[in-house]
This record gives sequence, C-alpha cells and structure tokens, in this order.
Amino acid sequence: MSTSSRAQVGIVGAGPAGLLLSHLLALRGIDSIVVENRSRAYCEARQRAGLLEAGTVELLRAVGLGKRLDAEGLEHGGIYLQFAGERHHLDFRDLTGGRWVTIYAQTEIVKDLIQARLAAGARLEFEVSGTEVAGLDEDRPVLRYTDAAGTRHEVRCDVIAGCDGFHGICRDSMPPGLVQAAERGYPYSWLGILATVPPSTDELIYSRHEDGFALHTMRTPQVSRLYLQVSADEDIERWPDDRIWAELRHRLEIPGWELRDGPITEKAILPMRSFVASPMRYRRLFLAGDAAHIVPPTGAKGLNLAIADVTVLAEALTGLLRDGDPGLADAYADASLRRVWRATHFSWWMTSMLHVDPGPDRFGAELQLAQLRYVVASRAAATTLAENYTGYYPLRRP
Ligand code: FAD
Ligand code: PHB
Repeated sequence: MSTSSRAQVGIVGAGPAGLLLSHLLALRGIDSIVVENRSRAYCEARQRAGLLEAGTVELLRAVGLGKRLDAEGLEHGGIYLQFAGERHHLDFRDLTGGRWVTIYAQTEIVKDLIQARLAAGARLEFEVSGTEVAGLDEDRPVLRYTDAAGTRHEVRCDVIAGCDGFHGICRDSMPPGLVQAAERGYPYSWLGILATVPPSTDELIYSRHEDGFALHTMRTPQVSRLYLQVSADEDIERWPDDRIWAELRHRLEIPGWELRDGPITEKAILPMRSFVASPMRYRRLFLAGDAAHIVPPTGAKGLNLAIADVTVLAEALTGLLRDGDPGLADAYADASLRRVWRATHFSWWMTSMLHVDPGPDRFGAELQLAQLRYVVASRAAATTLAENYTGYYPLRRP
C-alpha cells in the first residue's frame, strides 16, 4: 500500500535539530512532517551532549521550552582547567561580562521537544525505513518513507530539511561532486561513562594529564558523567568498572580533593572527528546540524551548533515560504558556515591543547603546557576561551 500527501517542510531526523526546526516552523504557522528511523524510546535515551551555551538556553526559553530546563538545568559560571598537577578556575561571568553555560542533557531536550510536538498534533513518525529524498531539481521535492506498519508514503514538500545526523541520507542525496568535505581525524577516542553518584565538583574539570585527558561533567545533582581519553581503536571490554575509576582518579587527582565513585550505568567508546560539508544547501534541500558538520566533543559545541543552524533556518524558511522573500534562505549556507568554522576551530584547539598524542612528542607536550599556562595567566587568553565556550555568535531570537 502507498499514500501521497503534502507538507510545506519535510524534515528527516528527530534529533534536536529536526525536532526544534519543526517546533520553530509551527510557531510561525508553517507545517512540517518529521520522519525518524529510530524508536521514540531510543531517541529519548541516546546519551550525548550535556552542555548548553547561554544563547541556546535563551532561545529554548523564548520558544516555550524553558520550563523543565529552568527547574532542572544546572547553571555554571566557569570551568576548571587542570594540568601539571594543578587545578585553575576560569570565571566566565567575570571574563565575558556575565555569560554562563547550563548543564541540561540532550536526552531531556529531546524529551521536551517530542512532548511539545505531539501535544501540538504534529506529524512525527518514528521507526520509519527506506527514507528517500528525490526531485530536488523540481519545485516540489518528495520525501518517501515506509512507516512502522509497512505503508509506503510519498510527501510532496516545498522544502526538505536534512537533519539526519552524520550517517543520514540527505547529504549524499545532493548531486554527485557538489559537496566538498573538509575533515580531520584524531588519533584517540573518548571512553564515556554515566554513574549514579553525586558529582565530585561544582563545575566541569578539564584535565590534561601526561597519561591522557580526562573530563568530569555531570547530568544532575545525583548523576555524574565522566570521560577518559583512550586510544582510537580501544576495546571497551578492556575497561572493567574498577579500571575506569582508578584511571579517572589518577588523571583527575590533586591534593585535598577526592573523586567519589558509584555504579556505572552506561559506558561507551566515542570516536573523535572534525568534519564540515559545504554547501549546506542544494536548491530546496537544506542541511542542518550533524548532517553537515561534526566537531570533537571537547568544546561542547555540536548540539549548540545544531540548534543555531535550525534557528537561522526556521527564519530563512519563513521568509521563503510565508513571505515570498528568499533573501535569508540564500544567505543560510554561508552564514551558517562562518559560525560552524569558528566552533570547528575552537573544538580543534581545545582538543589539541588537552589530549596527549600517542608516541613520544616532547615538543608537542611542551607547547600544550605553554598554551595552558598562558590561558590561565593571561586575561586576554582566558577571555578567548570563555567567549568561545559560552557561545561566540549570539543567536537571534525568533
Ligand atoms: P542527531 O542527534 O544525530 O539526530 C539525527 C537523527 O536523524 C537521529 O535521530 C537519527 O536516528 C535520524 N536519522 C538518521 N538517518 C535517518 C534516515 N535515513 N531516516 C530517518 N531518520 C534518520 N554537543 C554539545 O553541544 N555539547 C556537548 O556537551 C556535547 N557532548 C557530546 C558528547 C558525546 C559523547 C557525543 C557523541 C556528542 C556530543 N555532542 C555535544 C554533540 C551532539 O550530541 C550532536 O551534535 C547533536 O546530537 C546533533 O544533533 P542533530 O539533530 O543534528 O543530529
Ligand atoms: C557532557 O556533559 O557530556 C560534556 C560537557 C562538556 C564537554 C563534552 C561533554 O566538553
């Protein structure tokens, strides 16, 4: 069986980018359909980002998504940078004239968005298969998918938004040879854990240790999230819980401070990569979020970039579809790429400064330490880190 229908915007992917785009369009009276190949439960449980820039928080509040975020989010005014056995505090509020960041897990943003979209009666299809986008050279491209019950659907759209993450199909649906990728691999991965134990710190600790990077972050006052640099091809089986806690204790250790441990409820190895695809648009297909770019997580930028992309895209599509003005849609790709490259540089810089390259590299190690000493000693250098970390490009509110 198959059915045909219409939507102004067909959105592929119910991650933060696709869901928020659908929400922002609905606020402007533009209808959309979101198709997602995973289940709702999977999308709501997938452990990923946790740190929101101030502008991201302000945006979510402004569009009616701030209630639980304000009740449960943990506002942080800075971070700790640790190296050579010493821990230093960077005070973002002081350095940036009052800016801050908030810990609120991506899982919670996704839950809030799904609930808001379903309450508004949105077309949101989980567990689809065979997603295709076609007719990109025509005025009305089509989105095809098979729903969970096995019915094939064809949706004629004015615009398609590829919000389907790094492994999605939209980027590859652009004409062959159009998309240019700029990328950088890193010779290490992260081992990430979620543990039921109150965080041992009030703000995040980024630690460069000669045996590798470690990060102490958190999810709630009862749940900690921690990461360890491991080799790129590491096998999770080699990391029983006791070994993880021992290594975290070792890399985060300073006199007079103790890391509390507790039951580990999740552990996974996470590869690191920088990747930027351009252009982010072909005619009536627009890419947003991880579908177009990936950063290593050290700068905590991926989710924030995805949200920034769709905030700009929603405004651009409103101009195009409601007001008949293509100006912002034409500017979307270049404007987004400028923001993406700033965050790509920052994420690469944080990553390179804090991780230990495999193999002896005395010169590289001394450069990292010189840079870290400079960041904690010079107000100008600390401000550079702080203004990028809290969000360099202010988001325009809808
Ligand atoms: P995704 O979240 O990947 O969503 C894409 C969706 O499309 C998925 O649900 C997928 O199932 C679906 N899909 C794919 N293909 C198809 C198809 N063919 N048909 C239908 N649906 C499809 N970022 C930060 O800002 N701060 C952080 O602290 C941070 N920490 C991170 C820590 C880790 C361990 C990781 C892995 C990432 C982290 N990030 C962080 C990055 C952040 O999680 C991503 O950038 C973010 O998920 C991007 O959102 P998105 O909606 O673009 O893509
Ligand atoms: C997280 O909370 O998962 C997190 C925070 C900061 C990062 C990366 C991940 O740089």
